[in-house]
Amino acid sequence: ERQIFVTRHGESEDNITGRIGGDAPLSDKGKKFAKALAKFVQSQRIKFACELASKESELEPEGQQDFAKALQTTAKFCNSPFTIWTSMLQRSMQTAEYFDPDDYDIKHIRFLNEINSGICEGMTYQEIQQTHPSEYRSRQANKLFYRYPGMGGESYIDVIHRLQPMIVELERMTQSCLIITHRVVMRILLGYLLDWTREEMPHMMVPIHTVYELRPKPYGTELKKWQYIE
Ligand code: G3H
Repeated sequence: ERQIFVTRHGESEDNITGRIGGDAPLSDKGKKFAKALAKFVQSQRIKFACELASKESELEPEGQQDFAKALQTTAKFCNSPFTIWTSMLQRSMQTAEYFDPDDYDIKHIRFLNEINSGICEGMTYQEIQQTHPSEYRSRQANKLFYRYPGMGGESYIDVIHRLQPMIVELERMTQSCLIITHRVVMRILLGYLLDWTREEMPHMMVPIHTVYELRPKPYGTELKKWQYIE
């Protein structure tokens, strides 16, 4: 059994002004979320280790649950490896800054970057609507297939394709992990883990400062959602 945590980065300077894309750093509020996230994940990890340890000790024959062994089993689960993946954008990497690198295996992966919005990078939705009204309308009409024009511009479908290797790796690995990413990537990853259709994905609500905890089980995935409130 393992825990999969998925969240967006903490609030960035661009989130405050409503700009999409870019590579802005975290705002002060975003840094507070990052600090709280490290404490939260650590506590959930310990709680989970205790759950696993108590399940294991239940397997011991009646009257033979020895104290030292129980502590040892809990320590074993507490020390089991835990991976953190972030994108290669500042706001995502900074959200992982408060995790102890001795306790977590932290990797920055370009595949987890936010959708590339081509010529619309750094703009607000209002600016896009004013300066590129037909692009804005086309995206509204078909958000899944719409590809932003300009160098490297992507559609949701493009991002779904670039995430395939990450999904394969996520399925393959047995350890618990935390993925710190962006709105589009998060919609796709959650969509995959929770069986949302491709058509639903671009429209799902995935607010910042919300952590999804998923536990894959033989009969489906258990989901818990946690919100950070200052
Ligand atoms: O920076 C990109 C946005 O987070 C994407 O959100 O697909 O709902 O426009 P959207």
